Amino acid sequence: MCGIVGYIGDKGASALLVEGLRRLEYRGYDSAGVAVMNGNGVEIRKAAGKISKLEAVLSAMPISGNVGIAHTRWATHGAPTECNAHPHVSMDGTVAVVHNGIIENFSPLRSKLQALGYKFVSETDTEVLAHLIQAAYEDSLEQAVMDALSQVEGTYGIAVISSRDPNKLIAARKGSPLLIGLGEGEYYVASDVSAILAHTRQVVYLDDGDIAVLDRNGYRILDNDAREMLRSVSKVDWDLGQIERGGYAHFMLKEIFEQPQTIENTMRGRLLDDTGTAKLGGLNLTDEELLRFDNIVLTACGTSWHSALIGGMMLEDLARIPTKVEYASEFRYRNPVVTDRTLCIVISQSGETADTLAAMREAKHRGARTMGIVNVVGSTIARESDGGSYIHAGPEIGVASTKAFSSQVTALLLFTLKLARLRALSPVRGREIVEALHALPAQVQNILDRADEIEALAEEFKRASNFLYLGRGYNFPTALEGALKLKEISYIHAEGYPAAEMKHGPIALIDEMMPVVFIAPHDSVFEKVVSNVQEVKARKGKVIAITSRPEPALEGLIDYEFRIPETLDLVTPILASVPLQLLAYFIAVKRGSNVDQPRNLAKSVTVE
Ligand code: M6R
Repeated sequence: MCGIVGYIGDKGASALLVEGLRRLEYRGYDSAGVAVMNGNGVEIRKAAGKISKLEAVLSAMPISGNVGIAHTRWATHGAPTECNAHPHVSMDGTVAVVHNGIIENFSPLRSKLQALGYKFVSETDTEVLAHLIQAAYEDSLEQAVMDALSQVEGTYGIAVISSRDPNKLIAARKGSPLLIGLGEGEYYVASDVSAILAHTRQVVYLDDGDIAVLDRNGYRILDNDAREMLRSVSKVDWDLGQIERGGYAHFMLKEIFEQPQTIENTMRGRLLDDTGTAKLGGLNLTDEELLRFDNIVLTACGTSWHSALIGGMMLEDLARIPTKVEYASEFRYRNPVVTDRTLCIVISQSGETADTLAAMREAKHRGARTMGIVNVVGSTIARESDGGSYIHAGPEIGVASTKAFSSQVTALLLFTLKLARLRALSPVRGREIVEALHALPAQVQNILDRADEIEALAEEFKRASNFLYLGRGYNFPTALEGALKLKEISYIHAEGYPAAEMKHGPIALIDEMMPVVFIAPHDSVFEKVVSNVQEVKARKGKVIAITSRPEPALEGLIDYEFRIPETLDLVTPILASVPLQLLAYFIAVKRGSNVDQPRNLAKSVTVE
């Protein structure tokens, strides 16, 4: 959730580190800091708040040197103050550490260190690491880091420098992503490739347990017993333009508008028009193996869980296979029925969400085969799953997930199509779905071309305090997703419900102050949704309807309407979610929220 950057080379470290932090700011943004080796020792600058605060500190008090580490924080232990900001420094000032993750046994370690005379200045769990490294330091920094880490329980991605060995940078990983960027006579460490993409595309992803030792001449990767490990070099295919805002006011808006292209990218080369099916290269499963599964579990968090709900419905509907959808955070602590005939589909934009990763490991441990639907190439879920499909949506920087959602649902539809055609689905029905998918990018574009209609709607409702989102069938998850988008960036309380459930409770909330967004395309449950619209209207609720054609049945019942193009029922969530993303975006902007970095959130939730 926090971001790490490190640099060793011959350039000015401070500017490179801050530039990297800027690109990582979406991962956590409550405080930031840098530590640079200045020729005499380790010098630190920190600030509470956004990176711009740190930049102000650095321009008032610059540091020069060409080895350094930096961090942008999302608070876990201790308030987002300057004192709790990383880097944390050992008591003698020789060791500086930045850390992502949680040291679970920090409390006993802290007591033990205090008993030895170490003084703590922050409330963080990370500070114990700096002191542990100082305490273990004899003549090798990497050995001291290893000794310190051997005492630690929990998760970490760390970068460490020390004035006792000023031409070295150490990085280590367990449960929190970290990679090394390879340059000419210079090396980077980063928790996310976007931090270093401006400088190199050659990266080495560290595995759990790896300790990397970097100097200007090269790097070595060691295990806990100091044995040298071999790790392959990967080439990153994202380009810099993809991680910049271009001409857009916000990353979120850019990402919403990229969807025709990103959906196309998800489908590229995967649709087989003649046979009405899809081919997915990375599954690592033969058709015979696919047919052996007798149930599917889909697991994810947040928006990805909403995709999972839609995927689960598709799989039961078309492939006729029993399917369960689980919050990853619950699945990992239940006693789920999972066997070697279970396929566990793990959905994650970042591929690093701690709960989702743990759920995947749990499913594996219980004998399931795991399949990742992931965006970030080389991420932990992508690497640890038995196979899967990348969604190819490109970097998603806005904290509110948009293009990843539409691409996840598209990827799930491709997989459903493949499995369904192997099981029971007719070629005719398969071809119908392929055709609907081919039409999808242009249909999304059609919605985006009318974004001004949604902006006008946002103007009407920007002062609302509550919103209800209602849908049925495939569009119940769309309602959940619409509500999540609105609440996370505008801070308006919003709830998504299956439309018919409203009368079992939420209907009590409806009065003339309550906007109710109905997702009501002309699908198999349309008539049922009309009855629910009537119930809301009878109680003077303000009805905003996402429809797909002129509907006499809705006349006089709806206050505002936005039409999406017609498509198959199972494709409607992808189309219907686009106006809901725009509605949330425009309302949030009009209320003055920081759309790309909403309060209390971080892009990738790598703690439990
Ligand atoms: O990277 P993941 O897809 O695993 O992330 C899961 C959730 O944390 C994420 O979808 C979150 O709910 C977003 N902020 C939603 O916009």
